[in-house]
Amino acid sequence: MTDKYLVFGNPVSHSLSPDIHTFFAKTTDQDLVYDRCLVQEGKFKEQADAFFKEGGLGCNITVPCKLDAFSYADELSDYAKAAGAVNTLKKLSDGRIYGDNTDGRGLVYDLKRLNCPLEGSKTLIIGAGGAAKGIIKPILECNPCCITIANRTFNKAQDLADQYQMVKASTLEDLNETFDVIINSTSASLKDELPGIKDEIIAKTRFVYDLMYRKNGETVFTQKAKSLNIQHAYDGFGMLIGQAVLSFKLWRGVEPDFKKTLEKFR
Ligand code: ATR
Repeated sequence: MTDKYLVFGNPVSHSLSPDIHTFFAKTTDQDLVYDRCLVQEGKFKEQADAFFKEGGLGCNITVPCKLDAFSYADELSDYAKAAGAVNTLKKLSDGRIYGDNTDGRGLVYDLKRLNCPLEGSKTLIIGAGGAAKGIIKPILECNPCCITIANRTFNKAQDLADQYQMVKASTLEDLNETFDVIINSTSASLKDELPGIKDEIIAKTRFVYDLMYRKNGETVFTQKAKSLNIQHAYDGFGMLIGQAVLSFKLWRGVEPDFKKTLEKFR
């Protein structure tokens, strides 16, 4: 029987994961099928149970089910614990379900490809939602000098910063330092909005990354950075590929070619 994987989410029809993982399987000679599954409201557990019972070996989880997947796992990686969310589940040989979160490490994978000067850097993360929560631990492992989290709702930034040394919180308006690296983790770009930090903060940085991406063209945030003459401004498409590479590696023990995949799907 062919090994079965899929992505759970709602909506899920737009997800590129089936195409990416099918490409991984082909290019690494792995015999598997990867499907998508629309999760009905409140039915994640039931649908995940059915998938694993029918021989499913692993799955990705996208919005809005990452917290459900976190609760579903029998065992969690440190990254999943830090993120409070799971984007990858794997059935272990003893039948228990292991939950990981590869989003933040996927980001770091892409930042390394782009020669982002993270080590020793003053890093700004804009936003304090689920996406921010998932990237802090992997970024800290790259040894930045310090991280500031700035959010529209200050208390959320403060709550997140309180969990780590070397991380402090700010409102968006109060920011007036310069940063080496700026990462936009807000969902503002999905609505073609800017998160509301001053242009001069962006203009004085060396490297900008938006976790969001658009199928056609730049996000408003990378556009803004480029209009302020920032040469190194990138969207989150590489992060999407990076998190997929790490999920595949967890399931199959082989690492697909990141650059080849990026070229194929960009
Ligand atoms: P999640 O479910 O991942 O936590 P979310 O609640 O939508 O997602 O939060 C996404 C982040 O984007 C939050 O930091 C949010 O700011 P608030 O905490 O103040 O809500 C931020 N965000 C979304 N739209 C924004 C905008 N137009 N300007 C600034 N920040 C924005």
